Amino acid sequence: MPYIRDVIKGPIGVFDSGYGGLTILKEIRKALPEYDFIYLGDNARTPYGTRSFEVVYEFTLQAVIRLFELGCPLVILACNTASAKALRSIQQNDLPYLDKSRRVLGVIRPTAESIGEATKTRHVGILATSGTIRSESYPMEIKKLFPDIKVTGVACPMWVPLVENKEFDSEGADFFVKKYIDELLNKDNEIDTIVLGCTHYPLLIDKIKKYTPESINIITQGEYVARSLKDYLNRHKEIASRCIKKGKCDFLTTESIEKFKESASIFLHEDVTVKSITLE
Ligand code: DGL
Repeated sequence: MPYIRDVIKGPIGVFDSGYGGLTILKEIRKALPEYDFIYLGDNARTPYGTRSFEVVYEFTLQAVIRLFELGCPLVILACNTASAKALRSIQQNDLPYLDKSRRVLGVIRPTAESIGEATKTRHVGILATSGTIRSESYPMEIKKLFPDIKVTGVACPMWVPLVENKEFDSEGADFFVKKYIDELLNKDNEIDTIVLGCTHYPLLIDKIKKYTPESINIITQGEYVARSLKDYLNRHKEIASRCIKKGKCDFLTTESIEKFKESASIFLHEDVTVKSITLE
């Protein structure tokens, strides 16, 4: 069992397998500019989307423990794959032993909550990693809230590598973006709302729009997650009062500092200070 310091106050931890969670962090910082954050990207072991349940759970738990050790009272899994495959086990089995007073939240529930208003045809498409699609987390969460909605998912295993390798603007990306959108709309041609259920995908938004009929809504998660977190902190004063509010943001990566800096500036449009760490 790791030793987790009993800290009085700390930053909010934001975790992703790589750079994708930066699309969530950006919106969270806009909505909650007074809060401190630590972003942790497990860039050395990305992508998670094609890994087994056990491996994603193990890697995610290591990241959560590290963020707890760094004093975070609250950790956001800004990764759908980790939210789908590890969140429930961590909340139910690990938190009671690690520290009952801290919280870990994911991104699937806040996204699912936004869908009811978005769709008129009640046919919704999910584009996500293989792991998220296989977990069935989106259909399960959406059905709980809106039993009348038909949910169809397609895995897009090539999209995260395109983003991680900064190929999201290249001509090569067109082929794979079109391929998965066509696959989804061929499965259900009544879809009027598509959820980008992976935090990397907003980087492909221009190409996704190019190959999606204009009549279809495309939902990215950042704003919904940010709104939901703001609401959570308003309702849970005991957690909010343990978060440092100096507007500072630190970045950690399991890869090289230079690589992270370069890519983070594309996602965030700002220069960042980064430290490299190992997770085990
Ligand atoms: N960004 C992560 C998500 O939202 C997945 C990327 C990966 O496959 O590691 O699912």
